[in-house]
Amino acid sequence: MTTATTGIPVRPASVGTAHTRIEGRDKVTGAAQYAAEVPFTDLAHGWLVLSTIARGRIRALDTDAVLAMPGVLAVLDHRNAPRVETDYVGFLGKPDPTCAVFQHDRVPHLGWPVALVVAETSEQAREAAESLVVHYEQEPHDVEFRGDHPDAYPVDAIMPAVTGKGDLEAALAASAVVVDAEYTTPEEHHNPMEPHAATAHWDGGRLELIDSNQGATWVLGDLAKLFSLDPASVRVRSEHVGGGFGSKGVRAHQVAAVMAATVLQRPVRVVLTRRQMFSLIGYRSPTTQRVRLGADADGRLRALEHRSLSATSTVHEFVEPSAGVARVMYDAGAHHTANRVVRLDVPTPTFMRAPGEAPGSFALEAAVDELAEKCGIDPIELRLRNEPDKGPVSGLPFSGRNLAACFREGARRFGWADRDPRPAVRRDGRWLLGTGTAAASFPSGAAPSTATATAHPDGTFTVRISAADIGTGARTALTLVAADALQVPPERVHVRIGDSDFGPAMLAGGSMGTRSWSWAVQAAGGELLERLALGTDIPPEGITVRSDTAAAVGALTPAERHSFGAQFAEVAVDVTTGEVRVRRMLGIFAAGRIVNPLTARGQFLGGMIWGISMALHEEAVRDRASGGPVGADLAGYHVATHADVPRIEADWIEDTDPDDPVGIKGIGEIGIVGAAAAIANAVWHATGVRHRNLPIRPDRVLSARAGAPDA
Ligand code: MOS
Repeated sequence: MTTATTGIPVRPASVGTAHTRIEGRDKVTGAAQYAAEVPFTDLAHGWLVLSTIARGRIRALDTDAVLAMPGVLAVLDHRNAPRVETDYVGFLGKPDPTCAVFQHDRVPHLGWPVALVVAETSEQAREAAESLVVHYEQEPHDVEFRGDHPDAYPVDAIMPAVTGKGDLEAALAASAVVVDAEYTTPEEHHNPMEPHAATAHWDGGRLELIDSNQGATWVLGDLAKLFSLDPASVRVRSEHVGGGFGSKGVRAHQVAAVMAATVLQRPVRVVLTRRQMFSLIGYRSPTTQRVRLGADADGRLRALEHRSLSATSTVHEFVEPSAGVARVMYDAGAHHTANRVVRLDVPTPTFMRAPGEAPGSFALEAAVDELAEKCGIDPIELRLRNEPDKGPVSGLPFSGRNLAACFREGARRFGWADRDPRPAVRRDGRWLLGTGTAAASFPSGAAPSTATATAHPDGTFTVRISAADIGTGARTALTLVAADALQVPPERVHVRIGDSDFGPAMLAGGSMGTRSWSWAVQAAGGELLERLALGTDIPPEGITVRSDTAAAVGALTPAERHSFGAQFAEVAVDVTTGEVRVRRMLGIFAAGRIVNPLTARGQFLGGMIWGISMALHEEAVRDRASGGPVGADLAGYHVATHADVPRIEADWIEDTDPDDPVGIKGIGEIGIVGAAAAIANAVWHATGVRHRNLPIRPDRVLSARAGAPDA
């Protein structure tokens, strides 16, 4: 290849070619060190003690007995722990005071941190923590999430709580076909493989945290604010992260570790147990959603209402914004959406992969399927007839909306044209068979980031950016982006991530990580190449340039920016046992330029498999009596495993984002969006029963009668 104008050879692009993970060998051989594995001399171990009541007050802690136990160095609780500042605005807004541990004697939910026991060994700390007797003054609690809870209220969080245009009731009355249905999704947990773990230590007046998180800049900023420190005197390192899904932000264990390291002037490590994670790392709130659709006989929408209720804690407002998806997907003359919350005596929920879109798309895309059935129109055709030409609520143009192309390509590959629309008419032995589809979307954003690129005399390059690879393959993707920016093979580029000393950068979240970081990496690489073109000799320390994308990101013109996708599923339902098996799935996505097809496919498939899990398995049950989760472990909390994952394919269509320097939109979360709806719609097609409550458990299948909704 040569450039058209100069004839100078140009390297073929590395972006777009499959590349195995750069750190893959280190990970599978155990050479990669995770946060709890980094060795320290003089390391002490902290163990959190969590409340055994769901609401009340700590009356007393019998710490003397525990302090006399072998190896115990200290017990921190609300009486002696360092004070922290919680009145600030952090990277993601006002902090959840849950992470400001040991500041008062109130207990707002079961599993609230009440003390940290620090000892010479982890075993000694655990033994002592589990022996600590805490006396409580218990108060009545309410953990029961109900759709008609009288205390629900709208909250403007992440997005406005309420949007509305047109006369909804009039439009519904004028509609030839109306769907009015309530959908529920349960409490869901996003426990990553690697538990949350942090080691804090003071090093020459500087606080260092070895952590497992989704953004070193984020965690550094909040720790500096909490402890009133100059951000320059804090360093957060998080080199390898064994999964995050939204759960790895600023949490109790990091703050407790910093407190203990400060008090003891020793390195202190705090690792959460799987059981503790069910109380301390956030989760997805249950939702109750009401969707009302009104359409003309040809399926064109006149009325759309999507109302969602989720739960939050008594100490912090977090909204699962499920109604937001309707603001992007479909327009109608009367269009109303609302996100509301109710405060319960439960832990604060948090971002969990595709917050809002995952449960919201289940309700909306199932309702659209019901509308298609009532109109007697193919569900893909009905969606195509309702493609909006601008943002239904914002009125802004779409920066690219290739949903129709996803459906066309997906329908072709899935064999949709041969589908008999009638429900409950296909049988394979004891199995009823059905197929379903649903649309997917997820916002495509970019946030300011900085990166450095260094040229070394030996012809290699080092790129440094405070990115987080939480298992997505971000490090590898950034290497490909850097290689293209520097016009060299990827083997000559060494990308270093996960260190706040590399400068501020976006976190791995909102499907914005790789996009935001790539922007900065490309800018740094391009500028370095220009510097090198001047022909200067490279000194031993190399030549380094730094990029900052704040201005470029800020110059993006307002638009509806999203990735889109079409999900397809085929299921088999045994109506004598209630078992639902997914037989095959296909997802076709329009999600910007795909940097590394190998890891991108894994990212899409992982989301789709999570959709199987969401549709059929996942459900955390809260015990009304204790206020805590029943079976807080991965034995009782069912997730999809290999036997549940059948023929499953993800692919994409050309969708380069012209407003992004690398063409990326972001693919972190869209894989799960719509996946549960496609499966639920397929279960209807198989059985004739609409399952509006997730998960579609065997008992729900058994108790449902054909033609009637489930209980
Ligand atoms: Mo994602 S829920 O923004 O980590």
